[in-house]
Amino acid sequence: MFTSAILGVGVSLTVPLVTRAIIDGPVTRREIDLLLPLALLALGLSISEVILVWVRRWAQSRAVSDLEATLRHDLYVRLQSLPMEFHTRWQSGQLLSRVTVDLSTIRRFMGFGLLFLVINILQLVVVTILLLRLYWPLGVVVLVAAVPIILLSLRFEKKYLAISRRVQDQQGDLATAIEESALGFRVIKAFGRREHVKAQFDDSAVKLYGTSIEKVRLASRFWTFLGVIPNLTLVIVLLLGALAVGRNTITLGTLVAFITLMLSLIWPVAALGTILAMAQEAMTSADRISEILDTQSSLKDGTDELTKPRGHLRLENVSFRFTPDSPDVLHDINLDLPPGTTLALVGPTGSGKTTLTALLPRLYDVTGGRITIDGHDVRDLTMKSLRNAVASAFDDPTLFSMSVRENITLGRPDATEADIQQALQIAQATFANELPWGLDTRVGEQGMSLSGGQRQRLALARAVLARPAVLVLDDTLSALDVHTEALVEEALRNVLAETTGIVVAHRASTVMLADQVALLQNGTITHVGTHAELLATVPAYRLLLAAEEEEVHA
Ligand SMILES: Nc1ncnc2c1ncn2[C@@H]1O[C@H](COP(=O)(O)OP(=O)(O)O)[C@@H](O)[C@H]1O
Ligand SMILES: [Mg+2]
Repeated sequence: MFTSAILGVGVSLTVPLVTRAIIDGPVTRREIDLLLPLALLALGLSISEVILVWVRRWAQSRAVSDLEATLRHDLYVRLQSLPMEFHTRWQSGQLLSRVTVDLSTIRRFMGFGLLFLVINILQLVVVTILLLRLYWPLGVVVLVAAVPIILLSLRFEKKYLAISRRVQDQQGDLATAIEESALGFRVIKAFGRREHVKAQFDDSAVKLYGTSIEKVRLASRFWTFLGVIPNLTLVIVLLLGALAVGRNTITLGTLVAFITLMLSLIWPVAALGTILAMAQEAMTSADRISEILDTQSSLKDGTDELTKPRGHLRLENVSFRFTPDSPDVLHDINLDLPPGTTLALVGPTGSGKTTLTALLPRLYDVTGGRITIDGHDVRDLTMKSLRNAVASAFDDPTLFSMSVRENITLGRPDATEADIQQALQIAQATFANELPWGLDTRVGEQGMSLSGGQRQRLALARAVLARPAVLVLDDTLSALDVHTEALVEEALRNVLAETTGIVVAHRASTVMLADQVALLQNGTITHVGTHAELLATVPAYRLLLAAEEEEVHA
């Protein structure tokens, strides 16, 4: 790519020199026999210039596309392997803009800026030397004229960069406004906030418009200035050049070659500012991307394999906090669940139930104590065998934009049709068979809309189908009506008899599924016992379940 580019510059600079030979030889001294070879030489040079440009473009677009694809791939792999903690810290909009906008900024610079930065500087140096050698007094004039252009370009670059940055930020704000209003359209409509949201959007749009206009104005002022200086220089060079030709100091051909070469300088000089601005932008983008690439995953994969997990789950003095300087969300948690037992986890909102369940599949790592499965610390297990042993379903489950079948076989791609039907049966999710295209119906954001309860049931089917040794259900039944919930619970009873289960529960009926109940309060387990025992002896437990029951019956 660089070879063809440099050769191209060399060829394009030779053409004016051939022109000089033609003017001085065949034209001025009437040496007609030289005309044909010189003309052929010029023609050959022009053709090879075209070919070289083509080769450069081809090599360049291949290299740049390769680079972009590789970067995007690495970034995506890294995003997938980063811990939960990273994703809670970063806004999804920020990630999105880095994967799309920043990548294309880098691509634009690599595909255009970097090459021309090198070519232009090379061309500047070579042409300046050529000009000085052709006729040095005129060369000095051109050098002097170049000074204000370079100064102006550098100043322009600074201002332009600041404005572009503002435009980018405001584009981001606008995109966020659109994203939020698209995701929150129900709330906006329900609260009659359409006018308000529209006004907010208009505000951002008008601001962006203003900045964009400012940017255009700056650019047009710059380009106008840039037009004036070379033209003035041209006038001076023509005047002095004509005098020099008159006094036979230089030939006419030299003057023509000089002017042609001088004009070829305008673009490299003028573009320098823009290219430097691009380089800066690309560097900022590279910084923003490396923030993601350089994030060290705090979750280290273990080496132990669990070939046939039995599901003996123990939590020993477990404590957890989200950041090193925040208080413990969980502390002094001790649990021992032999294979096949089910524990109901009951506790007020914010007591840490979801956080506790997230520790089992290592969405987060404990910050104190340890969790073991069949005697292995979960941190010593390979992620693969850990995630094989533990399956979870959450209260607000995500369905991906793919078919129902693909969504529920996520944890076990080799499941048979019978397995799938059985899982759907247990989760009371056989409605999926009646969807327009059955199990091949696309659901998720780009597919059919399902109700919260339907999504929960598919998520439950997904977890059950994985046949885990440890099954974690975080409020998975919360959106079901009492009748459906009873049916699910009846079916779950068989599943839970074979696996170790932790079920976050709010209702007495769900609690009944469990052998034991643990009451979680302020981040620690204060009581463990059967439902009847806790009901009889712990007023807080009674209050918690009674409040929930009232809610259900209200
Ligand atoms: N990603 C997070 N970063 C910091 N704090 C969090 C995060 N998620 C939850 N918390 C806090 O941890 C506590 C327990 O939350 P959670 O486990 O969701 O409670 P529950 O599921 O019992 O309602 C709450 O005080 C909550 O504010
Ligand atoms: Mg929760």
